[in-house]
Amino acid sequence: MSASTVTPKPLHVAIIMDGNGRWAERRGVPRALGHREGVQALRRTIKAAPELGVKCLTVFGFSTENWSRPADEVSDLMGLIRAFIGGDLKKLDKAGVRVRVLGRRAGVPADILKLIDHAEATTAGNDKFLLQVAFNYGGRSDLVDAAQALVDRAAREGTFEVDEDTFGDQLSTAGSPPVDLIIRTSGEQRLSNFLLWDCAYAELVFQPVLWPDYGPEALQAAIEEFSRRERRFGGREVLEAPVSPSAERVVI
Ligand code: IPE
Ligand code: IPE
Ligand code: MG
Repeated sequence: MSASTVTPKPLHVAIIMDGNGRWAERRGVPRALGHREGVQALRRTIKAAPELGVKCLTVFGFSTENWSRPADEVSDLMGLIRAFIGGDLKKLDKAGVRVRVLGRRAGVPADILKLIDHAEATTAGNDKFLLQVAFNYGGRSDLVDAAQALVDRAAREGTFEVDEDTFGDQLSTAGSPPVDLIIRTSGEQRLSNFLLWDCAYAELVFQPVLWPDYGPEALQAAIEEFSRRERRFGGREVLEAPVSPSAERVVI
């Protein structure tokens, strides 16, 4: 494909929603308030994404490393996932959004697991938009779990061959398209163990805005920046997306 035929729109956007704490500190209010405003920013962003041509949005809600925060902050963050999944499910379902929660189930409070299962089951048939919430998620633990699942399968069935598709199918992101654009807010410039496999060829955009201030304009600016990038996927020509044999495995 030549550069002139390229439509440089990201199909899959992933966001590291960072800066809630600093947003609160700057206002002299409790961090919990920053997290609460962060949920409002998430709602604005979910609404804006399909309007900007995005088909899949993955957001980092709680990392495996976030358990090291003080207990009251962890508990605030657990409360927010309850409020978000519990409170927004109907609206998301009505809008045709399929909800998927990425990450380890072990260690997550039982009532939240129930909410997650319910949200995933309720929206499983939706295909307008895929929303993936990474919760108790770590890129490394997801890779390790995939390796363990393949080892278990080998022991059970004697299947010892692994390729990129069979490996990818074991990750919690199985079936979602590769990430085109990864956005991190708050000015930090690192991945913090997010989507290590799926971001192999993602474009990285770092925005100074603190997450609670995020919204449609900031998302549009990030997508415009993405559109100016030239992606080559190791070749010499600019391509819209890598030529992948696994395109038919994509769930949305
Ligand atoms: C991101 O905001 C939210 C989560 C990690 C859950 P932070 O709480 O990390 O905010 P900063 O980085 O301290 O400003
Ligand atoms: C990454 O942000 C995790 C989430 C946004 C949920 P952190 O604020 O936890 O990352 P570090 O500690 O600055 O790398
Ligand atoms: Mg942070």
